[in-house]
Amino acid sequence: MSRKAQERLAHNEKRIERRDKMLNHDMSNERATVEEVFDQTTRFVVFDLLNSGVLYEVNGVISSGKEARVYWGKNKDGLDLAVKIYLTSSAEFKKGMLKYIEGDPRFKNVKRDTRSLISVWAQKEFRNLEESIQAKVRVPKPVVVKSNVLVMEFIGEDGVSAPSLKESAPENPEKVYRLIIAYLKRLYQKAKLVHGDLSEYNILMWKGLPIIIDMSQSVSIEHPMARFLLQRDLVNLNRFFSRLDVDVVSVEELQKKVVGK
Ligand SMILES: Nc1ncnc2c1ncn2[C@@H]1O[C@H](COP(=O)(O)OP(=O)(O)OP(=O)(O)O)[C@@H](O)[C@H]1O
Ligand SMILES: [Mg+2]
Repeated sequence: MSRKAQERLAHNEKRIERRDKMLNHDMSNERATVEEVFDQTTRFVVFDLLNSGVLYEVNGVISSGKEARVYWGKNKDGLDLAVKIYLTSSAEFKKGMLKYIEGDPRFKNVKRDTRSLISVWAQKEFRNLEESIQAKVRVPKPVVVKSNVLVMEFIGEDGVSAPSLKESAPENPEKVYRLIIAYLKRLYQKAKLVHGDLSEYNILMWKGLPIIIDMSQSVSIEHPMARFLLQRDLVNLNRFFSRLDVDVVSVEELQKKVVGK
């Protein structure tokens, strides 16, 4: 056998080993849960990401919510990644999603079947993360999105994700409060986005600094709900930080600051 063929064979064996490892891992988990996540199409998407080399392995579940599961993965250089898999899900979720998609000029012409909507939902989070990074807002750096699977920078260490703001009160809450306001300002004025689900659960604390996550529902500032969502985000922010005895700025003033008028 030629050297090239040997290498290819070795590569294929490795790939199969990885795939088996993932399947075994699935089986060792609660069966029902895993089968719900990995419907056949999703399995194909994940295998495709493994084959194409974007992902080297997919390890344990970090978080399993109603709408998405987040897994800890690695790329071929051993760098940690977060793999967020949106579930093909309920009519209720679909109805909820549509509100956020319809008013967004970036996603005007989308198909309305559930599978396409979930896929748009994942693309939307990818783009929102990308646009946030460009605006210098600290969010996980997106790597790739394919159908309902989003791969992004892992925030944390050795498969343990960074604690949320809720779980880990900052030592210097004033500073963190001000930083988040600066992020929201950049998000609005540079990325032209409103987060839309901001809370102490969707901000991770890593190395003393806040990192905003969970941006699938984030909308363009042109969305008819943008002002309402911004106000709700700011109310949440103030509620949390006033409990930490931060002398918070009024929501009206914050709104002016963020919008820049
Ligand atoms: N890039 C990341 N790095 C590390 N951990 C992450 C990352 N993204 C998400 N997580 C973990 O997964 C959890 C859920 O992620 P996210 O908030 O994006 O999804 P969700 O759809 O809101 O799910 P849930 O309904 O469980 O909140 C986060 O609270 C965090 O613990
Ligand atoms: Mg969340």
